[in-house]
Amino acid sequence: MDFLNNSVLPQSAEHIQLLHYLLILIQFLFIPFISLLFGGSILSLLMKRRAKKFGEEKYFNFAKDIMEFVTISKSVGVIIGIVPLITMILIYAQLLQNSQISNLNFLVLSLASIVISLILIYSFRYSLSFKRIFKAISPTEINDKDISSEIKKISEESDHISNTAGKYGVIFLFLGIWLFITGITIPIYYNQWDISSFIESIFALKVLTRLVLYILFSFTLTGGLILFRYFNLEKNSATSENDYYKFVKSYSKNVSIRSGIFIPLFMLFNLLSIPAVDLSGTVFTYLVFSLLLLFLGYHFLYMLNKSYSAIFTSLLFLVLVFSLGFFIVSEQTIMKNSTKVQSAILSADFEKYLAGLKGEGTGTEVNGAEIYKVRCESCHRFDQKLIGPAHKDVLPKYVGKEAQLVAFIRNPVKVNPEFPPMPNPGLKPNEAEAVAKYLLERFAEEQK
Ligand code: HEC
Repeated sequence: MDFLNNSVLPQSAEHIQLLHYLLILIQFLFIPFISLLFGGSILSLLMKRRAKKFGEEKYFNFAKDIMEFVTISKSVGVIIGIVPLITMILIYAQLLQNSQISNLNFLVLSLASIVISLILIYSFRYSLSFKRIFKAISPTEINDKDISSEIKKISEESDHISNTAGKYGVIFLFLGIWLFITGITIPIYYNQWDISSFIESIFALKVLTRLVLYILFSFTLTGGLILFRYFNLEKNSATSENDYYKFVKSYSKNVSIRSGIFIPLFMLFNLLSIPAVDLSGTVFTYLVFSLLLLFLGYHFLYMLNKSYSAIFTSLLFLVLVFSLGFFIVSEQTIMKNSTKVQSAILSADFEKYLAGLKGEGTGTEVNGAEIYKVRCESCHRFDQKLIGPAHKDVLPKYVGKEAQLVAFIRNPVKVNPEFPPMPNPGLKPNEAEAVAKYLLERFAEEQK
């Protein structure tokens, strides 16, 4: 993926911030849609199999309705299934530019897999409608034997294609989701990710926990969507007490409850795997919101036992979507924390690039020792704690990493809870470089 890496420009700190927001927004669209598509396709396939086994019309209708709910329309599949994924690839390419780790190959493969799956799943959806038509022109009503057997043949073939499309669609979608989750998990563990092999990455425990979590979300949400859609269809009809609706209700409710009940457990597993330094109060706040909404969802599901109403199902679907949404925000916040230094390096590069454009930093030599005296000694001594830490204590982690030190000096981030945050000293890129060089040289000197 060098091509993507080389095609992006250095970014300012504000721009990087914006990219993080954009990422959240896009995932908030993409993940629920893909989750519904996945949960819905599986339930629909299961129903179709049941329809075949028991020969009952209601299962078949259910299979068809589910697919109509989750696929929405053909253009939606492209707009929310593919465009966001491409955008995400570009955003990650910028955020992780020039860094040691990359998630791009996973995301690009995921895109390929999801494109294939969308084609198959949409074919499956339309084949279900065709089947309806074949059923309508039932062979018994046609007297001509040839035509009747022809129709039967085409109907069976179409059924076969439909099953194959549905099955492979789900398999490709699953692969696509798995690769996508690997892709978004890697940057969350930016400072810790030491796995380079492809296979080991996709089987990493952190990836698998997330995969299970998102799949649980996907079924919970799908159950919620089905209830929501049926109740809003049902409002005007008097059919609410017939067998079919009863079946749909209890089935969807059970799917939601059985998968939703395990979500908090996997959230906990997930949380435990995250390095403490990347957890901030904000991360916990979003997680708490996510859980509260989920519990509210349980509550609405429980209320549905007593009375079915369109309002409960609408609320149910809404709280489930936002529970997933807050989880996504919490994950992205962790990623933002763990890539803090990477972001500072990128924006330092940007300042340098900008300074280069303006012709700064190429003129007179700057003196690192001078700058240190004037700009840093009000808070720092080399070997003594003052307002800031003694430099000899903090420099070891920057040995051989001048770029990171420059990045910190140009854009200090909160590091040690025992100290207040360091204000930005407002140095030009070449000045920051000179001080960093001076400090590292002095440190090396004193180690001798
Ligand atoms: C107004 C006070 C102040 C000034 C001026 C200041 N610093 Fe700091 N510096 C701090 C504080 C406070 C910390 C601890 C921040 C933290 O741990 O979050 C710190 C931390 C650091 C660290 C350690 C970073 C780390 O990763 O642990 C370095 C390196 C550093 N400063 C370099 C400089 C340099 C170089 C200058 C001059 C250009 C400078 N500081 C000017 C207050 C200051």
